[in-house]
Amino acid sequence: MASRPLSPAALEDEKSIERTLRPAGFDEFVGQSRIVANLRTYLDAARARREPLDHVLLTGMPGLGKTTLARILAHEMGSNFHETSGPAVEKPKDLVGVLSSLEPHDILFIDEIHRLPSVVEEYLYPAMEEYRIEIFIDKGPDARSVQITVAPFTLVAATTREGLLTSPFRSRFGVFEKLEPYPPADLVKILARSSGILGVDLAAEAAAIVAVRARGVPRLANRFLRRLRDFAQVSGSSRVDVKTAEEGLARLGIDAQGLDAVDRKILACLARHDGQPVGLSTVAAAIGEEEDTIEEVYEPFLIQSGLLERTPRGRLATSKAREALGDSGKSLF
Ligand SMILES: Nc1ncnc2c1ncn2[C@@H]1O[C@H](COP(=O)(O)OP(=O)(O)OP(=O)(O)O)[C@@H](O)[C@H]1O
Ligand SMILES: [Mg+2]
Repeated sequence: MASRPLSPAALEDEKSIERTLRPAGFDEFVGQSRIVANLRTYLDAARARREPLDHVLLTGMPGLGKTTLARILAHEMGSNFHETSGPAVEKPKDLVGVLSSLEPHDILFIDEIHRLPSVVEEYLYPAMEEYRIEIFIDKGPDARSVQITVAPFTLVAATTREGLLTSPFRSRFGVFEKLEPYPPADLVKILARSSGILGVDLAAEAAAIVAVRARGVPRLANRFLRRLRDFAQVSGSSRVDVKTAEEGLARLGIDAQGLDAVDRKILACLARHDGQPVGLSTVAAAIGEEEDTIEEVYEPFLIQSGLLERTPRGRLATSKAREALGDSGKSLF
């Protein structure tokens, strides 16, 4: 799974390179202009009032820039950035530890907030609303509660699974923004920036090809760029041109429409059912993938590309998908 070119999560060896490529401020952050404009306004207003920024919930597919935006908020606010994740805050006492280290107006970033244990979530509510936590010490007759005050801070939470958050939790965020996949023109700009940082000579036509096949995801665009740099290098060239891009992407198993082998298997599985909707579990079993992965990683792009439809009774391949598959689709099974 991890070695797959389209694996949406950051690969192990990718984390340090992503730090290098991460825009530090809004000026370097490409696209998502409505969200950026909103966040800039809220930041300016909060700073003018000398208050912390409202709590922010960022949702969207992996690799679209949630962590990047959270860091930018701290940078632009001139505040410290503290990072943790839902599964890392196992117990209320872990949360107390994190919250008591905060200084006024700091940003606390909790990634994968949907995996925060519900008992911790309840402790977080008063911290978010009134900057205090109430903890209970001892049991039985000695039981007492202690109030701890927390510096006025901003919680920036990120999730790829917005639907898993409870509505009381969601309603505690003043700012809620959903990141959408980037149009190719934005990915071209991101590739230009990344190739500058990495010192890769990327031809404009090659950037356009990579951008179309990166399915709207900056992480994938950057990943393809690094792989293409490798392909160029071993073939004795320092330049990623159209030929290197075309051949390299084909070697990664990504076709002209940005589909990889799993996408094609999903579509072929649906196409075999001749217009009958197919349940997610059936698709998952047929192609040997997790249901979650199909739903979160593969379907958004297939839907966006007009190749797959979700209906109440199941998934359908569109006529465009059947055309796209051609004869090669049938041969997958
Ligand atoms: N708008 C953007 N402009 C430039 N680079 C971007 C942008 N969005 C994301 N990136 C780059 O893409 C990579 C992935 O972004 P990031 O880690 O912020 O995604 P994420 O949404 O937090 O993903 P995950 O859900 O896996 O945590 C980073 O290297 C980042 O620099
Ligand atoms: Mg992230």
